[in-house]
Amino acid sequence: MRTRVAIIGAGPAGLLLSQLLHNRGIDSVLLEARGREYCEQRQRAGMLEQATVDVLREAGAADRLEREGLVHHGIHLRFAGENRHIDFPSRTGGRSVTVYGQTEIVKDLIAKRLDEGARLYFDAPVTAIEGIDGDAPRVRFVRDGVEETLDCDFVAGCDGFHGVSRPAIPADVLRTYERTYPFAWLGVLADVAPSTDDLIYAYSERGFALHSMRSARVSRLYLQVDPDADLADWPDERIWAELRERLALPGWTLDEGPISDRGITPMRSFVAEPMSFGRLFLAGDAAHIVPPTGAKGLNLAMADVRVLADAFGRWFESGAREGLDAYSETCLRRVWRAEHFSYWMTTLLHHDSGASAFDRRAQVAHLRYVADSAAAMDSLAENYVGYTWAQ
Ligand code: FAD
Ligand code: DHB
Repeated sequence: MRTRVAIIGAGPAGLLLSQLLHNRGIDSVLLEARGREYCEQRQRAGMLEQATVDVLREAGAADRLEREGLVHHGIHLRFAGENRHIDFPSRTGGRSVTVYGQTEIVKDLIAKRLDEGARLYFDAPVTAIEGIDGDAPRVRFVRDGVEETLDCDFVAGCDGFHGVSRPAIPADVLRTYERTYPFAWLGVLADVAPSTDDLIYAYSERGFALHSMRSARVSRLYLQVDPDADLADWPDERIWAELRERLALPGWTLDEGPISDRGITPMRSFVAEPMSFGRLFLAGDAAHIVPPTGAKGLNLAMADVRVLADAFGRWFESGAREGLDAYSETCLRRVWRAEHFSYWMTTLLHHDSGASAFDRRAQVAHLRYVADSAAAMDSLAENYVGYTWAQ
């Protein structure tokens, strides 16, 4: 088999890249280790920056997003029995964010790609990537129990944190930067109308809680839990009781409903540099991970892919390699801004039982400052909607 760009991984990054390349007339083959159903059911992120909505629209994959996405103009910060709303449009030159589940983006992109006759193969794990330091890379994968090869001009590693692409970069070239946290998130999807207009980020001494949503009838809620927490220890009643306590505000009640999905996500910050080597380009979680507070993971993946599709476009149109050469540096600037913001939001809002009494008091002082100061709210808002550089 042969193609221009071999894309590994049908998460949001790989699917969007395949679509953007197709729209530019560039052929690709997309190889995904898991089945279609698994990819379409996996519950993950849901908060989209304006730039993410824009690139999906530009890709022609935003019809349902435009109908069903929920536009939000701010967030609530809740702590010590108080609630502060941070308005985004007035602080960011009119920008806002949209709630639309990552699973819905994945479903929309898979349907569109298959409709257009894409070579998108599920249950086709890549086992090896060869020749990325030359000009004829080759990807080995397994389909129906048979090993096959895919020859290509470039490989796009969109295979997430545990994929095979990042390890294909020689160890003496790759630098990695990592931070772990003494927390994880327990996330649930519940069949109940959200009890809030905008998302609520709540700090309490019992730990962090987040009230998000997926539609007018479905709520998405998260609880900070220990990194070794076990779902078996979290029956529905305990989840709701903990959410009620952590989100409590005088005069406000949390509506409850049947939980349809639950999962525990570990938290880490991670960056791999450079994001490219020879003819291999990493995008999304394959290159970087953020803790979910601040909702940057999915947005970073989409931003990488937009830069990469432009760079491939210029290469295949005119042989210009400047875009490809600049890819890693261009992306890493955005990545590190989001890494810092996500780390900052995480340490601001989570309760670290190992922290000193001084650190805890300083944390509450910091929270009060963020909720009081116009300058601090401006800073949170401009990062949350997606920081853009002046030039
Ligand atoms: P992924 O979505 O991970 O896609 C990678 C794909 O590559 C997968 O489908 C995988 O099966 C495939 N693959 C792996 N290895 C191979 C191989 N060898 N061959 C072929 N295919 C392969 N972000 C937030 O902002 N908020 C959240 O609440 C949030 N929750 C999350 C919960 C979980 C459990 C996880 C894992 C992530 C969460 N994230 C969240 C992060 C966000 O979902 C990711 O940043 C986003 O999925 C990145 O997209 P991606 O396409 O780069 O990678
Ligand atoms: C969602 C996830 C996040 O990590 C976040 O900060 C906001 C919203 C969500 O899944 O809706």
